[in-house]
Amino acid sequence: MARRETSFICQNCGAVYGRWQGKCDACGEWNTIAEEASARAQMPGRAPRKGRLFALEPLAGAAHDAPRLASGVAEFDRVTGGGFVRGSVLLLGGDPGIGKSTLLIQVAAALARGRHRSVYISGEEAVAQVRLRAERLGLSSASVELAAETAIEDIVATLGDGETPRLVIIDSIQTMWTDLVESAPGTVTQVRASAQALIRFAKRSGAAVILVGHVTKDGQIAGPRVVEHMVDAVLSFEGEGSHQFRILRAVKNRFGPTDEIGVFEMTGGGLREVANPSELFLSERDLGAPGTAVFAGIEGSRPLLVEIQALVAPTSLGTPRRAVVGWDPNRLSMVLAVLEAHCGVRLSGHDVYLNVAGGLRIQEPAADLAAAAALVSSLADAPLPADAVYFGEISLSGAVRPVAQTAARLKEAQKLGFARAVAPEGSGEQAPALKCVGSLATLVAEIAANGRRRMENGRRNSAGG
Ligand code: TYD
Ligand code: MG
Repeated sequence: MARRETSFICQNCGAVYGRWQGKCDACGEWNTIAEEASARAQMPGRAPRKGRLFALEPLAGAAHDAPRLASGVAEFDRVTGGGFVRGSVLLLGGDPGIGKSTLLIQVAAALARGRHRSVYISGEEAVAQVRLRAERLGLSSASVELAAETAIEDIVATLGDGETPRLVIIDSIQTMWTDLVESAPGTVTQVRASAQALIRFAKRSGAAVILVGHVTKDGQIAGPRVVEHMVDAVLSFEGEGSHQFRILRAVKNRFGPTDEIGVFEMTGGGLREVANPSELFLSERDLGAPGTAVFAGIEGSRPLLVEIQALVAPTSLGTPRRAVVGWDPNRLSMVLAVLEAHCGVRLSGHDVYLNVAGGLRIQEPAADLAAAAALVSSLADAPLPADAVYFGEISLSGAVRPVAQTAARLKEAQKLGFARAVAPEGSGEQAPALKCVGSLATLVAEIAANGRRRMENGRRNSAGG
């Protein structure tokens, strides 16, 4: 009697163990290890197949025609790097309810309108539900082909029959299952095997395939992470529940840039493309309030103005709180340390909260100067000029360092009616109303001079700066 071989696989990172344990040693997650049939036991009674010979091809072969197919949803195409590449597989991840299905039905409809065959396979919703959504989005007339299916073999067979679709959407990979493995849908083994089958189909047929993957923090459902290295591109769709802004970001892209973002707004009629995100992110500005600074940033190739809000308040706790939304907490700690060490700003008795407006996440070090300005503005109760933007990297010595793409930042600021810019020294001649600051201490002293609240110990110490 052959013993049924099983192994224990972490549903979060895919690490394999010989027996069950509560915590995965590889990724540190708890309760993520589940029993699955091991790969060897999956095809009982079948001898290993002898390999078939195939022809090797030179690198300089004839390339395919039309290497990219633009979907027509400009913000989506911007993130993929200009459209779908033939035979490529793309993973779209995001929290449940963020709008992945909505985005993809809109993309499928846009492509169908351009007379390309696009197929939408839903494993989560019935055809009627998908139709209902399309109706709400005003897309009922688009010639997207629908199915509610979860069996990979059936899907691949159906897609391979007749004209090859240009785009296939699988919503979601966690609901798919293949006969080849025994595990339940949603487990790492199933997700991986299903993805593999679809990737093979894409490479063979030339169709572009989009896999939807839910990201769950508790690790109960197999994270699409195990698929990330198998696909050509990984996009993540992000947003704050309370905001209607949605940001599409490329996490990995074999055929394009990874720093571009696409901005959408969730409306009653589906996702609306936001061609000029700066206007949107600044639309709710609280003019004249202390603790806010406008940061002139760059996301990918596009300048983006966004408001950085800070609140500095006396603490009632032994260890003051530092809370950040939308920015790197380590950079905040660094800026706070520089403010203390070089500008005489005492913050150890204050709670510090920093928020990037609109639910955007900033990664650029160029935001240092804007964050510092907002912090000092809040502490000193000194509103910053409403028509000024800030950018520049702060070094540990307190110097303000130049950043890339100054001209693009200033141009965007000018376009949106900002008359002044506070920027690193040397960004010079580009605009008349540009104020260059060489050190953070200079800026701090200047903001504090207009303050309605005296900064304890601060003004005196920074006077020399
Ligand atoms: P959905 O695309 O189903 O999310 P996902 O596939 O990522 O789970 O979107 C669900 C949310 O979007 C839901 O909370 C309702 C909202 N929504 C709108 O606000 N307007 C719309 O036109 C649609 C279709 C959805
Ligand atoms: Mg969905």
